[in-house]
Amino acid sequence: MELQSLSNILGPEGIITDKALHASYTVDWTRRYTGFTSAILLPENTEEVSQVLKWCFAHSAALVPQGGNTGMVGGATPMSGELVLSLKRMNAIEEVDDASGQLVAQSGTTLADVQRAAAVLGWKYGIDLSARDSASIGGTIATNAGGSQVLRYGNTRHQLLGVEAVTGTGDIIGDLRGLTKDNTGYHLPGLLCGSEGTLAIITKARLQLVKAPEEELSILLGFQSTDEALAVVATVKKYIDDIQACEIFFQNGLSLVCDQFGLNPPWEKPANTYLLIDAGGQSGLIERVHESPLSEFLNASKHVALGTDTSSRKKLWQYRDLHTDAISANGIPHKLDVTIPHGKLANFCNEIQRIVNSYGADNELFLFGHAGDGNIHVNILGPAPEDLQVDEAVLDFVASLGGSISAEHGVGRAKARHLYLNRTPEEITIFHKIKNAFDPAGILNPGAIIDPKVG
Ligand code: FAD
Ligand code: MLT
Ligand code: ZN
Repeated sequence: MELQSLSNILGPEGIITDKALHASYTVDWTRRYTGFTSAILLPENTEEVSQVLKWCFAHSAALVPQGGNTGMVGGATPMSGELVLSLKRMNAIEEVDDASGQLVAQSGTTLADVQRAAAVLGWKYGIDLSARDSASIGGTIATNAGGSQVLRYGNTRHQLLGVEAVTGTGDIIGDLRGLTKDNTGYHLPGLLCGSEGTLAIITKARLQLVKAPEEELSILLGFQSTDEALAVVATVKKYIDDIQACEIFFQNGLSLVCDQFGLNPPWEKPANTYLLIDAGGQSGLIERVHESPLSEFLNASKHVALGTDTSSRKKLWQYRDLHTDAISANGIPHKLDVTIPHGKLANFCNEIQRIVNSYGADNELFLFGHAGDGNIHVNILGPAPEDLQVDEAVLDFVASLGGSISAEHGVGRAKARHLYLNRTPEEITIFHKIKNAFDPAGILNPGAIIDPKVG
């Protein structure tokens, strides 16, 4: 490959050809996917991205866009030797508009930097996930990331007012005007959000901010059964207007987190199921929670812990947030990220253990996730990384319940072959046509979302 031309476009700081420096770009966060490449490309601005794409189009050179490389489905890994286009150097926040509560960021900006810039002016960005210090705005848009506060603010698509992007032919498209109302045809931000780098490279985004809460409160609750916990999820969703998050985890995950990170468990006597409820709103929050139907449970249960300030809230959140790291420290998990339709979550949680153990009596199952959204993260330790039988059984079960095989992490390469479980052949054919319109040479993230062997 003629890398000198790319070097001429990007300058010496904008290309890494030394393979000794490639590992952090070619291995994914989960360590399940290891790829290879001839070069990492690091453009500094949209014009450079456009020139690179024009060159790639002319030379039929495939590339994989990458932000913080925290994705969970192998979507940012160059499995077939594609070039890696990292947006890391495009990390400026270009504008925070206090009057409209809007922010414009380049796509390599980290989620944490956007959150901080919003907070400076008393605003808040409605997306939060524990990979915030590395995950990029471009990556969160490309995956339509969810996280813990979706039940209050919606997923990334709901925050997205405008994008600037570069197509597979090198054309710069989109706009960053941030008009509240604009029904001029197809909605490009909505389409590019969740497209996982297969349609265009997102270079900038205009994001809607939300009002920052005056008070925040976290409540950890323990239950003797999952059914009891899910009844409280329904109460919280119906009666607590200030709800920001409603997360679920189980005793075996909590034990793993505590053992791995040397934390004391919240109570001497373990529970079966845990809910972490987070609320934020105007002052008087604690009083409002105590006046709600949740108070009955808070008064009656011995398994209640409140976090009313930053440090006590953080302590409670550690039990939930450290699940991902604790599980990964114990092996390369089979990670499945699913949504279960309303009313079927209890059935799913009760049945899934049996399915997982039918593929290995010693398989370890860890469930946790965003109970308020019906989004459960199924993590299985035991089967060899390349043995996908248990993954297929879990996804079949999810589909049979009418659920989604990818709630928030995306399809990537990991779930591409399973797309048929949720999408009809007619829909997949339309997906191919949409891709072809944006990327006629098929150079943008080939193999992600759509399995090239299907359709
Ligand atoms: P990458 O991993 O670099 O890329 C992800 C995908 O986006 C790839 O397909 C890539 O090609 C594409 N892409 C990246 N940048 C661009 C761009 N500028 N233009 C076009 N395509 C692009 N996810 C959730 O939804 N909710 C969670 O709660 C959550 N928690 C997490 C916790 C941990 C500890 C970790 C490690 C991950 C978590 N994730 C979560 C997954 C991950 O953080 C998100 O998917 C995030 O959106 C990925 O951002 P990134 O910048 O790291 O993207
Ligand atoms: C989370 O909610 O913590 C994540 O989506 C990460 C994971 O699934 O491990
Ligand atoms: Zn999640």
